[in-house]
Amino acid sequence: MIPVNTPLFSGNEEKYLLECIKTGWISSEGPFISKFEDQFSNYVDRKYGIAVSNGSAALDIAIKALDIKKGDEVIVPTFTIISPVQSITNAGAIPVLIENEESTWNMDVLKIEEKITNKTKAILVVHIYGLPVDMDPILHLCEKYNLLLIEDAAELHGQTYKNRKCGSFGHISTFSFYPNKHITTGEGGMLVCNDGDIAEKCKKLRNLAFEPNGRRFIHNEIGWNYRMTNLQAAIGLAQLEKIETHIQRKREIGRRYMNNLAEIKNYQLPLEKTVYSENIFWVFGLVADNEKLCNDTVTELAKYNIGTRPFFWCMHKQPVFNKMNLFINDKFPIAEKIASNGFYLPSGLGLTDDQIDYVSEKLLNFSNQKL
Ligand SMILES: Cc1ncc(COP(=O)(O)O)c(C=O)c1O
Repeated sequence: MIPVNTPLFSGNEEKYLLECIKTGWISSEGPFISKFEDQFSNYVDRKYGIAVSNGSAALDIAIKALDIKKGDEVIVPTFTIISPVQSITNAGAIPVLIENEESTWNMDVLKIEEKITNKTKAILVVHIYGLPVDMDPILHLCEKYNLLLIEDAAELHGQTYKNRKCGSFGHISTFSFYPNKHITTGEGGMLVCNDGDIAEKCKKLRNLAFEPNGRRFIHNEIGWNYRMTNLQAAIGLAQLEKIETHIQRKREIGRRYMNNLAEIKNYQLPLEKTVYSENIFWVFGLVADNEKLCNDTVTELAKYNIGTRPFFWCMHKQPVFNKMNLFINDKFPIAEKIASNGFYLPSGLGLTDDQIDYVSEKLLNFSNQKL
């Protein structure tokens, strides 16, 4: 089996984990937490890092820490994982969806301004699959309309936009450390920001909103237990020591697929670069010319024990949101096409060159039969 993802542990993971066990620091109180927070936030050029239990939790906290609440509108792409959108609805706020771009699969920044109203409180940018969102127009809109910016950089640790790190733009930016990410903590996430008051709010919200200076067990607001453990942070720190190697390998994997599949017909390959960024190939995705071809390809590759994953599903097509009377009349043909025709190939850090060549060969054979 060539799974769609295999993580890579080639550094100090075991050593740091043993240290946790030997010292007994296994909860969220241990010393690896602040080390990981400091070093990761420093890596993405932010002053503060707040480690949490996963990337979805980070988004819940981000929305609440920025005081986004009932009636507020937040602009977000329709083609995304559900996490950013459910964090908006969880807070009683209203997600306002934006079409995605055919070329980068990211939100179409030219379609944002027409959706801004006097209720718009924030833009929630989601960087998707390997290329960042075009940030300059977003920064301009945030300034022009006095909007908050949240950056979901869950997939793009180490990626840059015009030489500036993804995750360094938002009033709050969030990351995930799920095992398919460039660095993992098993499950895990982090919020990063530059504002000390916002950082304190996030810390409080991840810890059941305990008052940092008040009597313990008296609460003035509702938070969550979204804490990361010292065990997770130990793995995270070891992974962070290797992040540049991981990113380099991801780009090698992407380029190898690009070369192998350069002549493929009936599928759109990812863009290798844009004017502002080089693809980091968090995953290697393709968009087939139609949904049947996408489904048939996935079935064909499965015959050779090659794992694939379908692309995200559009938010305006989600039964759960339609039941909430959301997005009923929304239509976003580009995002719909990307979602129904897209899938990604094995892309994990543990993938070997031979496996990439094998997957490419099987895909090319199949595509040639279809011509
Ligand atoms: C863009 C994006 N945001 C948020 C998340 C959620 O992160 P987690 O799985 O850690 O909750 C993911 C997960 O892959 C993601 O891709």
